[in-house]
Amino acid sequence: MSRVALVTGGTRGIGASISTALKAAGYTVAANYAGNDEAAKAFEAETGIPVFKWDVSSYEASKQGIAAIEAALGPVEILVNNAGITRDAMFHKMTPEQWNDVIGTNLTGLFNVTHPVWTGMRDRSFGRVINISSINGQKGQMGQANYSAAKAGDLGFTKSLAQEGAAKNITVNAICPGYIGTEMVRAIPEKVLNERIIPQIPVGRLGEPEEIARIVVFLASDDAGFITGSTISANGGQFFV
Ligand SMILES: NC(=O)c1ccc[n+]([C@@H]2O[C@H](COP(=O)([O-])OP(=O)(O)OC[C@H]3O[C@@H](n4cnc5c(N)ncnc54)[C@H](OP(=O)(O)O)[C@@H]3O)[C@@H](O)[C@H]2O)c1
Repeated sequence: MSRVALVTGGTRGIGASISTALKAAGYTVAANYAGNDEAAKAFEAETGIPVFKWDVSSYEASKQGIAAIEAALGPVEILVNNAGITRDAMFHKMTPEQWNDVIGTNLTGLFNVTHPVWTGMRDRSFGRVINISSINGQKGQMGQANYSAAKAGDLGFTKSLAQEGAAKNITVNAICPGYIGTEMVRAIPEKVLNERIIPQIPVGRLGEPEEIARIVVFLASDDAGFITGSTISANGGQFFV
């Protein structure tokens, strides 16, 4: 039987590419999403990947969502923590709500979704946890104190959990994408994209969601069993750690 993979925020953008790439690699995939039913249903119809709606910023909702997936498909052995949001503002204008929303989804969401699957991974002595962080968690970004703090927190979470999981054959890794051509980034005015953003990327283009998905497929595989606690940067040379 094929391994079950859960991709949070797996119905749109980078997450949708990850879900379809994992399915193509032979996994049984479940894709979570928060509220965009129309996009989720279209994704499900197109790919045949079942979708499960809950807000990862809620621990109870995450526990229930994962219980539903495990009842339908079997134990989650691959977890991709991909769900993420932005609520950008310069810090002097940032509201507590903007701070809490981003920390709740992009950082606490990792606790909420990983915790309910962790004991099962330990019991079965196998697991793969792949966290989608960001270049802005590595270098910081004006107008994103909330987002950068959460994404940097994801890296600390990854390294700590990697140490705890290693003896149980559970690997925990992070990917830090640079600018990827998802709806979110393509919505930036073309002039800004061409004159300000792309010139900062040495390879001279945005990344493709599939380029992140291929890293996930590798990290999920048995071939990647010796890689844990790592951060893989995929940013076209924009920032070196
Ligand atoms: N795009 C980039 O250039 C870039 C760069 C670096 C890092 N990243 C990171 O990569 C990840 C994916 O980004 P993206 O650009 O593909 O985003 P996206 O196109 O906006 O898609 C986000 C996905 O996450 C889901 N989601 C959002 N909040 C959620 C919540 N509270 N609970 C459950 N699901 C939730 C959305 O569900 P709905 O459809 O229901 O809203 C959607 O499926 C994020 O963690 C982001 O921070 C992106």
